Amino acid sequence: MDFLQVVFARRSIRRYTQQDVSPEDLRQLIEFARVAPSGSNSQKLRFTVIRTPELAEKIFALTGWAGHVKPRRTPVWGKDAPRSFIALTVKKALSSPTVQADAGAAVENIMLGAAALGLGSCWIGSFDKERTHELLELDPETEVLYLVALGYPAEEPVWEDASDPEHVKYYLDDNDLLHVPKLTADDLTIWK
Ligand SMILES: Cc1cc2nc3c(=O)[nH]c(=O)nc-3n(C[C@H](O)[C@H](O)[C@H](O)COP(=O)(O)O)c2cc1C
Repeated sequence: MDFLQVVFARRSIRRYTQQDVSPEDLRQLIEFARVAPSGSNSQKLRFTVIRTPELAEKIFALTGWAGHVKPRRTPVWGKDAPRSFIALTVKKALSSPTVQADAGAAVENIMLGAAALGLGSCWIGSFDKERTHELLELDPETEVLYLVALGYPAEEPVWEDASDPEHVKYYLDDNDLLHVPKLTADDLTIWK
């Protein structure tokens, strides 16, 4: 897929096959993340790759999924759950709005890169940060900002123009297909 296809085709994936992502592909995703934009190029983020099944299962148990369509896009470990994650971390003393923005840029690079590699991903902001910190055995000065779930997609959500700017919740249709309404460029933009 070229970039134009990838940027429109990437969707948050919440159903995965049980095929493991290779260490090479996970390494490649970190390569994508490390070249993301960074405020003042200060590069304060760090990454933890979680790929051993025992740890991935425990981390997965701490994550929250698709509140608008619960429980139909709540994956189940061993059935359709992601089997690897990347955790984004930062030293607490260095945390700032700029680092949050860096995290957004890094996650987007990971997710677009994953789509280009044929992988599915989901940005996870809803998770037990304290327990994740413990399981990852991070030092007390470090905090976990986000997780990115990774695996091979077992669903193909679609995006569409939001017909009504007030109704942007993603939803499942009668065929269990996930629809993601996106506001149109005209709804979002002022030209001067
Ligand atoms: C900051 C942030 C946190 C998110 N956290 C979660 C999460 O915890 N669980 C989840 O299922 N999706 C999460 N998402 C995914 C959004 O629900 C998803 O991006 C949105 O529905 C649009 O769908 P799309 O990514 O396919 O365009 C998160 C997205 C962002 C940007």
